[in-house]
Amino acid sequence: MTDFDCSIPTKVFFGKNKIEKIPKEIKKYSSRILFVYGQGSIKRNGIYQKIVNLLTDSGIEYKELSGIKPNPRIVSVRQGVALCRVHSLDFILAVGGGSVIDCAKAVAAGVYYENDPWDFFTKKGDIYKALPIGTVLTLSATGSEMNGFAVISNEQTKEKLPAGSDILRPLFSVLDPTYTFSVSKEQTAAGVVDIYSHILEQYFSKEDDTYLQDRLSEGLMKTCIHYAPIVINEPDNYQARAQLMWASSLALNGILSYGKTGDWSTHYIEHSISAVTDLTHGIGLALLIPYWLEYVMDDKRLVKYVNYAENVFNIKEGSADKKARAAIDKTREFFSSLSMPSRLREVGVNENDLGAMADKTTRFGPVGAFLELDTNDVYQILKSAY
Ligand code: NZQ
Ligand code: ZN
Repeated sequence: MTDFDCSIPTKVFFGKNKIEKIPKEIKKYSSRILFVYGQGSIKRNGIYQKIVNLLTDSGIEYKELSGIKPNPRIVSVRQGVALCRVHSLDFILAVGGGSVIDCAKAVAAGVYYENDPWDFFTKKGDIYKALPIGTVLTLSATGSEMNGFAVISNEQTKEKLPAGSDILRPLFSVLDPTYTFSVSKEQTAAGVVDIYSHILEQYFSKEDDTYLQDRLSEGLMKTCIHYAPIVINEPDNYQARAQLMWASSLALNGILSYGKTGDWSTHYIEHSISAVTDLTHGIGLALLIPYWLEYVMDDKRLVKYVNYAENVFNIKEGSADKKARAAIDKTREFFSSLSMPSRLREVGVNENDLGAMADKTTRFGPVGAFLELDTNDVYQILKSAY
């Protein structure tokens, strides 16, 4: 296990009607805020009106930045920065899924940055200060509600890149599972895959003395496998939504990776795909993960696969190699049970673009830590998934 400094400062308000806490929390910092949301789901399910009432009744002034798209665009970030500057707004409330929260984080940092906020993502500029952020989560998937990462897309350059800083961690997040009842089957399934992938990316690490982190991860993966079919069939099952909502936050708030090194190569590859195709993040991950698991498997790394097979899928029979392959098959089966496609060609990816995607994935150097992947490795994985 490696050394680490742990800080997870986000206050979590978990449960029904916890939204009522937000005026008091916001007022600790501000009475003039930017209210960021997506393309209308919060108006249809009533959350928007609840928030407007809470803000108005408590005398908090707000300007809206709405229409944030899935795979949030840098143009929205620039708009948000301008709104905060023009209206002297000094707090951001993000209400939505990961896209809305990520956009809010980039705005929060962009306000204090003299140049274009896209610089954060191309490593040309550093995040050194940010406005405080609060969130109301409406989709269980990314973990953005408790972490310091933001992933932003640039339509002009066809890139989708991450940036991160602990100062972007939200000060508070409201996690009311009833707010996820209205999420479509497809987004629910993609969300589960995203949660599962975050756990898996940290589980398959190069360190082998991570017993505690690995057992925590296995518990979270089993939670996803157990509750996924329940939420798909019963969208308003409170307990199932609640379990997955908390799993979303725990999967990527740092708790699983303190003391070890996450891999993250399928995330980098997926971002290069959705930058070009606007694919839903979780769907891209479901396509890639089984092929990545196959590509990086070798004798040196087999022990992690065996643990995965035995402890997540209860595969106890056969040689180490057989168990590992059976676990990869089970992973595939889990994703297809969620109606995820299994080939890149099924989601409109053009075979001729695979080379460019591999180049973009490795534009800052090799990716991955469990096994480092260069441009050719990434290309081979994309090709096998095609
Ligand atoms: O735009 P609205 O109307 O809000 O609709 C959204 C959107 O169409 C809808 N939705 C959200 N909550 C809903 C709802 N529909 C009905 N009822 C609700 N309660 O769902 C659609 C997808 O929303 P989005 O925010 O894009 O989904 P998600 O939370 O999966 O976020 C995906 C983005 O986050 C990035 C991804 O790459 C992608 O850009 N990620 C961010 C991470 C982070 N910050 O830590 C890590 C992840 O690995 C990921 O890369
Ligand atoms: Zn993800």
